[in-house]
Amino acid sequence: MQVKPYKDSGQEKKQQVEQMFDRIAPKYDFLNHFLSLGIDKLWRRKAVRLLSQYAHETVLDVASGTGDFAVAASRLKPTSIIGFDLSEKMLEVGRAKVQKLRLASLISFVKGDSEQMPFSDNQFDAITVGFGVRNFENLKQGLSEFFRVLKPGGTAVILEFSKPRYFPMKQIYYFYFLKILPWIGRIVSKDHSAYSYLPESVLAFPDGQDFINILSGLGFSDIEEHRLTFGIATIYLAHK
Ligand SMILES: C[S@@+](CC[C@H](N)C(=O)[O-])C[C@H]1O[C@@H](n2cnc3c(N)ncnc32)[C@H](O)[C@@H]1O
Repeated sequence: MQVKPYKDSGQEKKQQVEQMFDRIAPKYDFLNHFLSLGIDKLWRRKAVRLLSQYAHETVLDVASGTGDFAVAASRLKPTSIIGFDLSEKMLEVGRAKVQKLRLASLISFVKGDSEQMPFSDNQFDAITVGFGVRNFENLKQGLSEFFRVLKPGGTAVILEFSKPRYFPMKQIYYFYFLKILPWIGRIVSKDHSAYSYLPESVLAFPDGQDFINILSGLGFSDIEEHRLTFGIATIYLAHK
């Protein structure tokens, strides 16, 4: 069953996700770094290091939100980075951020749906996506769009939450993720559902070999899995 942010809403998942991120956009960066104790920054940095071995002249950061992955990818000195996202309010925060960091000539933002992207076939050397694919309404459709817009030989770097498998981290994580995090998230973001949706969507999302099987079924090859911090998150690298 599909996990959606607002259980009482009759809207499709995509509209609900857009609305949720529009609502939490002003608090997103603070909550992200606070709730992860800053570890999310290290994860993006590692993902960028892994990408550095492959072509990265032109980068598309899908589900870019407030642009943290696009900013991290700027270390690779590509010629252009496009941050692409459904939520205008998240992009507004991203635009202000890249202005402040003097990266506006390198990083531009485009609003749209990653399941139907306004880009040409074989356009990008690399795709980055952080904590985005879990929110897609149609996961396979989104991932097949990644495949379409990547150049042959191009690389998709997907950073997403996963589930720790072993005692005691598994138990500690479930307690924090299911009990503490939604409570803090609710108070700070003032959105009653967003930070319950987070753990629910992570638990329902395919990770590890299940996610790799989906990628290879869509034509990606040489897929690598890098589990991070006891398996709380995973970086997948997949090539066209
Ligand atoms: C958790 S945020 C991640 C933001 C950023 N990548 C990061 O690393 O912090 C997820 C983002 O995915 C975007 N998103 C969800 N579904 C999308 C879709 N179908 N097309 C484009 N963006 C989408 C949301 O609007 C949101 O900004």
